[in-house]
Amino acid sequence: MLANILVVGSGGREHALSWKLSQSSKVETVFTSPGNGGTENNVPIDVTNLDELADFAQKNNCFTVVGPEVPLAAGIVDKFNKLNLKIFGPSQMAAQLESSKIWAKNFMKRNDIPTARFEIFDDAQKAEDYVNSLEYNVVVKADGLAAGKGVIVCNSNNEAISAIQTILVKKTFGDAGNRIIVEERLDGIEASYIALSDGEIAIPMASSQDHKRIFDNDDGPNTGGMGAYSPTPVIDDVLAEKIQKKIIDKTIRSMKNEGIVFKGFLYAGIMIRDNEPYVLEYNVRMGDPECQPIVMRMDFDLYDYFVASVEGKLSSMPLPSWKNQYAVCVVLASDGYPESYVKGEEISGFDSISNQAYVFHAGTKKIDGKIVSDGGRVLGVTALGESLEIAINNVYDATEKITWAHKYCRKDIGKKGLAYF
Ligand SMILES: Nc1ncnc2c1ncn2[C@@H]1O[C@H](COP(=O)(O)OP(=O)(O)O)[C@@H](O)[C@H]1O
Ligand SMILES: [Mg+2]
Repeated sequence: MLANILVVGSGGREHALSWKLSQSSKVETVFTSPGNGGTENNVPIDVTNLDELADFAQKNNCFTVVGPEVPLAAGIVDKFNKLNLKIFGPSQMAAQLESSKIWAKNFMKRNDIPTARFEIFDDAQKAEDYVNSLEYNVVVKADGLAAGKGVIVCNSNNEAISAIQTILVKKTFGDAGNRIIVEERLDGIEASYIALSDGEIAIPMASSQDHKRIFDNDDGPNTGGMGAYSPTPVIDDVLAEKIQKKIIDKTIRSMKNEGIVFKGFLYAGIMIRDNEPYVLEYNVRMGDPECQPIVMRMDFDLYDYFVASVEGKLSSMPLPSWKNQYAVCVVLASDGYPESYVKGEEISGFDSISNQAYVFHAGTKKIDGKIVSDGGRVLGVTALGESLEIAINNVYDATEKITWAHKYCRKDIGKKGLAYF
């Protein structure tokens, strides 16, 4: 019998997952909830409405795949499991690796997983005294989920003190900032490493590099991500093996030892310093936009691997095979993002995209058959190429064909990888 799938979420990541899963010969219909202008079979249920999502999955006999962290942290997997519904992703306990940065840091410390030195505070004065006692720069982090905004990288004690005020006293991130981490700033090269686990073993998915800042050369404020490419030469085979053993395998094993079965994507944000990897953070799901280039390179049936993860049978699966190509995703955003921008502008050019590129939708909606902008990050144009350079050329050829009045994108996505060849 063919399976129905429910992909939970509405971003480029969820469009990419839906797109890939719909290619499986074992899949009948892919629903996306709430989805966007590019996804098919949209179901208008918010990602936090766990009751209605469960209801829909039950009635339509769906295997559910969760894109974003918020429903995972809210316990969607536990809820579905209780109802005997099949769902891919970590339990609420396992999701603490992402939903509480303090939980994750303490977990890494007690299990000897390499990460920056840190202390935890709920008192601003004590945090400030601590900062003043240090000889190195720090990063101040809100404990809870803050949509990628709760981390402040500081260049001086004054900046650190104002970061402490912002999070602990002004409560800019609400209860997510009831407690903070003050950790050593590690200066090195940043990359991401994603694996897939069934609670027993973890198989590598791919390496990638995200581009968080709004402007070229990593200038300007942070965003949800302006582009990504995969694989990244920053992580060579030697380093990949180190990350797999010292971080990924150790995390899954330590979780198990602590009585927590980790199933799902395990994403390690890594800083590489003197050829050694350190965990900056865990995510318990795919990154967005990293997911888009990674999915384009998959030469295997993702659904099979999701099922194997849920059933604890990854060790019986062959290692996934990847296209021997690079993939680059350039995010097309509304001009003005991440601050204010206009929505509702008609987008054109989709028909002129050749088949070496694919346009994943994020902040779009379909009105009377037309696609209009409906968010900050609007589209994720993604292309393959035999080399990183060719993939970059291919993706920028494609981005030029897509137009609307207030389109903005970075022009240097992937460039930092070129230096390694
Ligand atoms: N210890 C650290 N040293 C240097 N930079 C850091 C450190 N921790 C975080 N960062 C920077 O801050 C960014 C955001 O931090 P992260 O922990 O990934 O939180 P989130 O993604 O939840 O905002 C990272 O991508 C990295 O660039
Ligand atoms: Mg991060």
